[in-house]
Amino acid sequence: MFTENNFIFKGSEIKIPEKGICNWKSPSNIALVKYWGKSEPQIPKNTSISFTLNNCHTITTLKYSKKEVASNDFSLKVIFEGLIKEDFKPKIVKFFERIEKYVAFITLFDFVIKTENSFPHSSGIASSASGLSALALCLMSIEKELKPEITQEYLLKKASFLARLGSGSAARSIDGPLVVWGNHSKINNSSDLYGTSFPYKIHPIFENYQDTILLVDKGKKQVSSTIGHNLMHNHSFAQQRFDQANENISKLSEVLQNGDLKAFINLVESEALALHAMMMTSNPYFILMKPNTLKIIEKIWKFRREYNSNICFTLDAGANIHILFPEKEKEKVNLFIGDQLIQYCQDNQYIQDQTGTGANQL
Ligand code: DP6
Repeated sequence: MFTENNFIFKGSEIKIPEKGICNWKSPSNIALVKYWGKSEPQIPKNTSISFTLNNCHTITTLKYSKKEVASNDFSLKVIFEGLIKEDFKPKIVKFFERIEKYVAFITLFDFVIKTENSFPHSSGIASSASGLSALALCLMSIEKELKPEITQEYLLKKASFLARLGSGSAARSIDGPLVVWGNHSKINNSSDLYGTSFPYKIHPIFENYQDTILLVDKGKKQVSSTIGHNLMHNHSFAQQRFDQANENISKLSEVLQNGDLKAFINLVESEALALHAMMMTSNPYFILMKPNTLKIIEKIWKFRREYNSNICFTLDAGANIHILFPEKEKEKVNLFIGDQLIQYCQDNQYIQDQTGTGANQL
């Protein structure tokens, strides 16, 4: 088992390259058992598990060149979808501050970070998981350049560790198709420090599992994740929620192995609603669903009843809906979405995705 100390970069005698470039594509993910509540430093209050997505991703190119004059500060320029973005810098500087202890070499370089998402920026889809994991992977490519002896396994594990310090859910955006984050007695090798691939054989029904994201509200998040997680401090139901999530991990682990879709649907929908219930019962309180979110949920339940289908929904901390279903129901469900659900999406917009295998170096 790795501890924090295993991730501290040590290398006083290394040769610093003059310049270089690295390029990673990193996926977004959708949690089945939700992470909601954390303590310092980015330690989750409960274990979470997510499907890695295939089509929703971030591509990041990191150019680095040795600083002409040594300094202790971070030198970076951020280009997002072709435009210089000054307003993206503070978040990245904060990320660099949090990870500097583990990648001390980052003060040696001037960086140019070029990044783009496969999904529209203003779609209400969070890009922090794919964005920060792609950047963490690029930094690990530099570490590999400085220390060629590190293994690929270490590179990916430390990338997840670094990404977590930027955004918790980003720890789950390195591997695939199912990633666990948070130490759990029933999941071998699980850790609070980084995400690990679900370690047991997954039932074939979950292969290429489909996720269609219905964009009900494309606006900026109403509640930032920092505010959201903080709502769990002093929340009356906090401990029950963390216990419930950890029990759901045990149950879902069984279901993912035995293929019991009815139990899967029940667990996944209950998790989504529990997440929103936490927001509704905190102080300040929030309702993040929109009327169209509820309309879609009702339609999903009706369709499931009438056609004996196995579709279900999950939610992020927002109004958008992820519809999850087995690959073999794709045709039927696509017709249903086109026919009955797109009218509830903003600008009729939705994104078809499915589970993917994780990040790639380009
Ligand atoms: C509702 O990972 O965005 O999507 O660690 O503060 O960056 P920070 O939070 P973040 O929280 C994600 C919350 C969630 C559930 C989940 O993905 O597990």
